[in-house]
Amino acid sequence: MSLIKENFPLKNLNTFGIDVRARYFTRAGSVEELKQVLEDNRNFFPFMVIGGGSNILFTSDYNGLIIQPSMKGIKIIDNNHDHCMVEVGAGEDWDDFVSWSVENNLGGVENLSLIPGSTGSSPIQNIGAYGTELKDVVEKVNYLDLETFEMISINNRDCHFGYRASIFKNQLKNRVIITSVIFRLKHHPLFNTSYGNLHAETIRLGKISLVTIRNAVINIRRYKLPDPKLLGNAGSFFKNPVVETAKALELKDRYTSMPQFPASDLFVKIPAGWLIEQCGWKGRRTGNAGVHDKQALVLVNFGNATGYEIKALAMKIRDSVLEKFDINLEPEVNII
Ligand code: EPU
Repeated sequence: MSLIKENFPLKNLNTFGIDVRARYFTRAGSVEELKQVLEDNRNFFPFMVIGGGSNILFTSDYNGLIIQPSMKGIKIIDNNHDHCMVEVGAGEDWDDFVSWSVENNLGGVENLSLIPGSTGSSPIQNIGAYGTELKDVVEKVNYLDLETFEMISINNRDCHFGYRASIFKNQLKNRVIITSVIFRLKHHPLFNTSYGNLHAETIRLGKISLVTIRNAVINIRRYKLPDPKLLGNAGSFFKNPVVETAKALELKDRYTSMPQFPASDLFVKIPAGWLIEQCGWKGRRTGNAGVHDKQALVLVNFGNATGYEIKALAMKIRDSVLEKFDINLEPEVNII
């Protein structure tokens, strides 16, 4: 039986460290518990689901029920000479799973080391870093359909994964709760160290292996990104914008140092961090909210910032990028 707590503090359940409360809060450790909680409560209060709280900005208390799926377990469900299929409970910490994979010599998620959050949330925004995205390793996602109350297993293709996007952010938004994710990990992976300085950092640590890649990613992240335990943040606040090739060429003429990466035949991706830095925001602080001094895409809470303060700063940043570059930044973080 899940215990429902009242007036529950959320400060430790969101990596921004915003001091807000939920009117009601509970954890669900199994599919049965989850169904029970929903059956008992969903007609009485609004409810929302929270994972590791690493991609969320609360701007006020939540006047309803927050449910945290906490199904545990990392289970090998199929294994052959090529791959190993692993089912991971939604409540498993993402990086604990990555660490388990590397320790067991299974490849596929090592580039995604140290990303904060829970495994159940990882498909929602198709987490990605250092040249790998979740979509490269997901086999299936298991979820509870909130309309039919049935358990569904959806395969990779039907998840409609895109850049920081999936069916769970679109058609299935607020309609499902992910309970576990199945990954296809490789016994003999092809290593991918082509992103930025990852290769150099990996070989600095020794021969290329799952362990050296994981440690290199951890070093790079620790250098650039603030540890949420020490300085509240939710990683990249905005998505990297994608513009049409013609517009990208025009921008490159005006701003010759602008980094650009092909996103498809027709579109070009521009690092939001660069745009924000060019507008003079990097390392700036207003009150308790600020822009990280080593990565301008990360907004930080210096202590007692309210969600409203962080949001106000984000909107000022968005306006100045729009004014200077005519590019609209879209938040990556969910603002509640
Ligand atoms: N840049 C700047 N100034 C900055 C930050 C970045 O000029 O302050 C420019 C540089 O040219 C740099 C480029 O942006 O080479 C890319 O920077 P970085 O490698 O730090 O990556 P990013 O595009 O800013 C994305 C993800 C991160 C992920 C890294 C590494 C998004 C929104 N963010 O950031 O993901 O860790 O790549 O793969 O796609 C997250 O989603 O929360 C997150 C941290």
